[in-house]
Amino acid sequence: MKVPLLDLSRQYNSIKEKIDSAIKNVLDSQHFILGKEVEELEGKIAHYCNVDYAIGVASGTDALLLSLKGLGIGKGDFVITTPFTFFATAGAIHNVGATPVFVDIEPDTYNIGPEGVRDLLRGKSFHSSRMNINASRIKAIIPVHLYGQIADMEPIMDIAEDYKLRVIEDAAQAIGSEYKESKAGSIGDLGCFSFFPTKNLGGYGDGGMITTKNKEIEERLRLFRVHGGERGYYHSLIGFNSRLDTIQAAVLLTKLPYLDEWNRKRQENAKVYSEYLKDIGEVETPRVCERRKHIYHQYTIRIKNGRRDELQKFLKKREIATKVYYPLSLHLQECFYDLGYRKGDLPISEKATGEVLSLPVFPELTEDEIAYTCDSIKDFF
Ligand SMILES: Cc1ncc(COP(=O)(O)O)c(C=O)c1O
Repeated sequence: MKVPLLDLSRQYNSIKEKIDSAIKNVLDSQHFILGKEVEELEGKIAHYCNVDYAIGVASGTDALLLSLKGLGIGKGDFVITTPFTFFATAGAIHNVGATPVFVDIEPDTYNIGPEGVRDLLRGKSFHSSRMNINASRIKAIIPVHLYGQIADMEPIMDIAEDYKLRVIEDAAQAIGSEYKESKAGSIGDLGCFSFFPTKNLGGYGDGGMITTKNKEIEERLRLFRVHGGERGYYHSLIGFNSRLDTIQAAVLLTKLPYLDEWNRKRQENAKVYSEYLKDIGEVETPRVCERRKHIYHQYTIRIKNGRRDELQKFLKKREIATKVYYPLSLHLQECFYDLGYRKGDLPISEKATGEVLSLPVFPELTEDEIAYTCDSIKDFF
C-alpha cells in the first residue's frame, strides 16, 4: 500500500462537477480579478469566523504583510512571534521593515508560550540583556495557531491589553478551529488565513483572507490591496497589488460548505491514530487543550528517543509519506543571523524541530491507510 501525505485528487473527484461548473461560470464572465465571487466569499468567511469584515488578498503571506501595514507597523518597530512556524510569519514582519522577536513555545501545543511573552515584556528574558530591542517600539504579537489548534489566546489578549499591543492571529492553518467559544481569526485585532491548496480550505492556486471587527482597519486594508487607491489612478496610500482572484473565490465558495465535515473527518482520523499509537512509549500523540477545537491541519507526533529521522526513513521505505514541520527554528535561520540569536536561546522550539513528525491526516484518508501507517510505526519500534 502507498499512503500519500495528502491526495487532493480524492477531494476534487468527490465534488468535480460543482468545481468545474464554478470555474466555467468565471470563464464565461471573463471577470478574473475580485468581482462578485470574491465579495460573496468575503461575506461568507466573515460570517463563518464570526467577525464583521473579511478582505480577500493574494495569499496568506500577503494577509500578514497587509495586516502589519494596516496597523501602521514598520521601520524600527518590533513584533513578538513564535520561532516554530512557517517562514512567512517572520518574513512578513521583516518585509514591512520591522524586526521579529522570537519567544519560545509550549512543549505540548507547539504554540507561543504566553508566560514567555510576559517575561520578555517585563525585561526578564535573555532578550533584554543581550538583544538589541527597543522595548517601547514593541507593537504587536503574532501568535500562530500551529497545526490547527489555537494558541492560548486569553492570556495573550490580557498581555496585549496591559502593554497596549496589537494582536494579529496567524490562522493560516486553523480555519474553523475554536478557542472556548471563539473561532480562529475572531479573537485578535486581525486574523490571517491562507488558501494555499494544501490547507483545510484550499484554493487552486494562492489566496488569502484577513478578518477583523474593526471598520477603520478594514477600510485601510481594502485600499492597501489595490495600490492604496480608492478610485483608479488616485492614491491616498502606498499599497500593494494583492487581490484574490475570482477563480479562486469561485473554487473556495464551492468548497466552503464542506469545510466543517472535512474538519470533522480529520478529527476522526486523529482520534483513530491516537488510539492506535497510545501504547508506544516513544511516541507522543498531539495534546488537545480543554475547550479548544483542533482541526488537524497536521496530525503531528513527537518521537522522544532521537529516532525521528530513522522512523521517517523506515516509513518512506514502506511508501508512507510523512513530513517534518519544521526542521529548523526560525531564530536559527541563516537569514536571521544578524538578529543575534544563538543555539540554545529557545530550547523548546529547538528540541521540537528534532522530534516532530506529521502523518497523513487528510479527510479522505481510509481506515486501512491509517492502520497500515500505525502498524508500520509499531513494527519500527
Ligand atoms: C503558519 C503559516 N503562516 C503563513 C502562511 C503563508 O500562507 P501562504 O502560503 O498562503 O502565503 C502559511 C502557509 O503556507 C502558514 O502555514
